Amino acid sequence: MLSQEDNDRITRTGPGTPGGAMMRRYWQPAALSRELGADEPLAITLLGEDLVMYRDDQGRPHLIDRYCPHRRSDLSFGRVEDGGLRCIYHGWLMDGAGQVIERPAEGARGRACLKLGTGYPCHEANGLILAYLGPGEPPRLPAFHYLDVPESHVFTMKVRQNCNYLQANEGNIDPAHLSFLHLFLREGVNENLNLRSGALNDVLGEDRSPTIQVEETDFGLRIFAARSYSADTNFVRITNFLMPNSCAIQGSPMTDPRSDPIHENSGYQMNWHVPITDETHWKYVVACRFDAPLDQDFMLSAFAEVGPDYVIDRNRENRFRQDREEMRTRSFAGLGSSFFIHDKCVVETQGAILDRSREHLGTTDLAVVKMRQQLLAAVAAVEAGNEPLMVDRYDGEDSLAELVSLSLELDKAEPLLGGWWRRFFAGGKPLASLMGHRA
Ligand code: FES
Ligand SMILES: [Fe+2]
Repeated sequence: MLSQEDNDRITRTGPGTPGGAMMRRYWQPAALSRELGADEPLAITLLGEDLVMYRDDQGRPHLIDRYCPHRRSDLSFGRVEDGGLRCIYHGWLMDGAGQVIERPAEGARGRACLKLGTGYPCHEANGLILAYLGPGEPPRLPAFHYLDVPESHVFTMKVRQNCNYLQANEGNIDPAHLSFLHLFLREGVNENLNLRSGALNDVLGEDRSPTIQVEETDFGLRIFAARSYSADTNFVRITNFLMPNSCAIQGSPMTDPRSDPIHENSGYQMNWHVPITDETHWKYVVACRFDAPLDQDFMLSAFAEVGPDYVIDRNRENRFRQDREEMRTRSFAGLGSSFFIHDKCVVETQGAILDRSREHLGTTDLAVVKMRQQLLAAVAAVEAGNEPLMVDRYDGEDSLAELVSLSLELDKAEPLLGGWWRRFFAGGKPLASLMGHRA
C-alpha cells in the first residue's frame, strides 16, 4: 500500500514531475529500428513529451521537439532534406539537435542559426533505438546482453498498453502469478505453442505457493522463487527488476519447442515499460540468446494478434475477448495462448493508474514492495542532486555485471539467498553446460 502522494511520485513521469526527473536519468527505448524509414519522420510521445524522430542522410536517428519553433506546426509531417527536418508550413529547417538552421521565407534575415529547439541523444543497435531525455551528458549505456550479441540473436517487439507503466512492470517481478494467470489446463497443453514445456506447467500448477525471497543489487532486485519439484529439490527461477522500468526474466522459449529442445537458460527477455503518457505505455520486448540465433518466426508467432501499429484489438471494451469455454477446458484465464495478452488484461483492468492506497498486499508481493521503495529512493536521490541507482557515469564495475536470469532444479537444503547461482554463472552468462538444461 502506498499513500496517494508516494503513488504520484513514482507513476507520474511527465515533464517537471519528480518521477519524470528520475525516469529521464536513464536511457529509454524510443522506437524500434524498423519503425523509422529513411525519409519518414516518426511522431513519438515519450514521458508525456511530443517528439519527432527522423534519420539523417547517413541513417542516424535524431529525436527533436515535435512542434516547429516558428508557429508550432507538427514536424512529423515535414520533409527530411538538406541535413535536417523541414517544416512544410514555411520551410524552416531543424537540425538533429532541434536548432533552426534555415528560415527561407525570411530571405537574407533568416540565415542566422537560432538556438530554439530541443534535441535528445539517440543510440541505435540491434533493432532498438534508445534515447536520453535527461539533463547534461547521457550516462554510459548499461551493458545489456542484447547489445553484446549479433543482431540474429536478438528479438524486438512492442505492444501498446492502456495503463500506467508501473503496474505493468509489477507483473514481471511477481512470480506467484505464473501459477494462475498463465497456467494451462492439462487438456490444452499439447496444442499450445507458447507453452514452455509440459513439465514447467506442471511445476507451476502443482506448487502454487512459491517461496519468494529478494535481494537488492546494483541494478535493482534479484528475485528468487522456489517451488517444490521433488522430495529433495526445488524448481528455482531467478527474475530481476532493472531500474527503473524494466526486468530480465526467463521469458518465451527462443526456438520452437516442437522442433528444438528448450534452451531454458540460453538467454533472457527484457520487458521494458516506457511511458507514453501517465495512462498509456509501450511494452518493449527485447529477447536475446547468448549462444545462437533465435527463431524470429517462432518469437513473432506469439504476437500474431498485434497490428501494424503495435496495438492489439483486445481491450476493456471487448472484455479482452475472454473465452469462457477455453477457461473450462484449456486455460486458467481464457485469454488464448500468448502470455502478453494475459498480462495486458490484468494490468489494464487495474485502472489507468493503479490506486495503491486501496491494495491489500500479501507475502508474495515482496519484490513489488521493494521495487516501489527503490523507485521512491531514486526519486529522492535525483531531488537531492545525486545519481539514482543503476546510472553509471564513470569507469568501474558495471551495474549489470551480476545480472543473472536462471531456471534450475536446486537442492532444498541450499539457502535461496546464499549466492549459489555463482556456481552456474561466469562472465555475465550461465555456464555453457546449463544452456539447454531442460526444466
Ligand atoms: S510553422 Fe513551421 S515554418 Fe512556420
Ligand atoms: Fe505475466
